Amino acid sequence: MTPTPARTIRTTSSARRDIGLTPTAPSRPPTHHQVAADLTLRAMREGDVTRVCAMDRESYDFPWTEGIFRDCLRVGYSCWIGEIETTPVAHAIMAVAVGECHILNLCVYPDWQGRGFGRRLLRHLLTFARTRKADSAFLEVRISNARARALYASEGFCEVGVRPGYYPARKGREDAVVLARALDPGTTERLAG
Ligand SMILES: CC(C)(COP(=O)(O)OP(=O)(O)OC[C@H]1O[C@@H](n2cnc3c(N)ncnc32)[C@H](O)[C@@H]1OP(=O)(O)O)[C@@H](O)C(=O)NCCC(=O)NCCS
Repeated sequence: MTPTPARTIRTTSSARRDIGLTPTAPSRPPTHHQVAADLTLRAMREGDVTRVCAMDRESYDFPWTEGIFRDCLRVGYSCWIGEIETTPVAHAIMAVAVGECHILNLCVYPDWQGRGFGRRLLRHLLTFARTRKADSAFLEVRISNARARALYASEGFCEVGVRPGYYPARKGREDAVVLARALDPGTTERLAG
């Protein structure tokens, strides 16, 4: 099974932030001092899946099912949870094989976005992929996902193709942009600060 990262971002949280309202966190109010350096990363476990799936639904218009997350764990994909103290704030899933990694899911939960966690998580994935001898990284992103595309571009990803109509969309289908970058095996990503 190769899960299809078919997704559209929700903008509710960023819209709230843009108009200056304090976002509400599901279990603990985020504070301004919590930045990327505070994020701890651990392997996702089977017991995380129900909550991860709920947060995926909060973050995407076309979320993954629990079955997809369970399959990712079962086949040994690299599955991560980002936490602030003990509160999950992000998850990510990546396949690594034959010298390549493919980022399948990178998700910072709505009330925790814009604090550098996405960049930190992405760098963690790339560093981990290097330890597994990957020398290149690939991903697909919705053509409309400007926020994610800005993050990937700033981390050295380049457009290498387009998959027409790859994703479901509210009206019909949406193209995926295929992005790639080389991984220098000698480089460790510096932490986002
Ligand atoms: C895309 C996503 C992972 C970014 O994570 P994040 O923690 O919010 O992003 P960061 O705070 O690490 O910011 C990293 C970069 O993203 C871009 N970015 C972040 N917020 C942005 C916004 N509101 N508008 C435009 N670009 C933005 C910027 O390039 C930013 O770099 P900068 O702060 O140096 O300008 C997160 O928004 C998310 O999970 N979105 C929903 C799920 C999704 O779309 N995942 C990607 C699927 S391919």
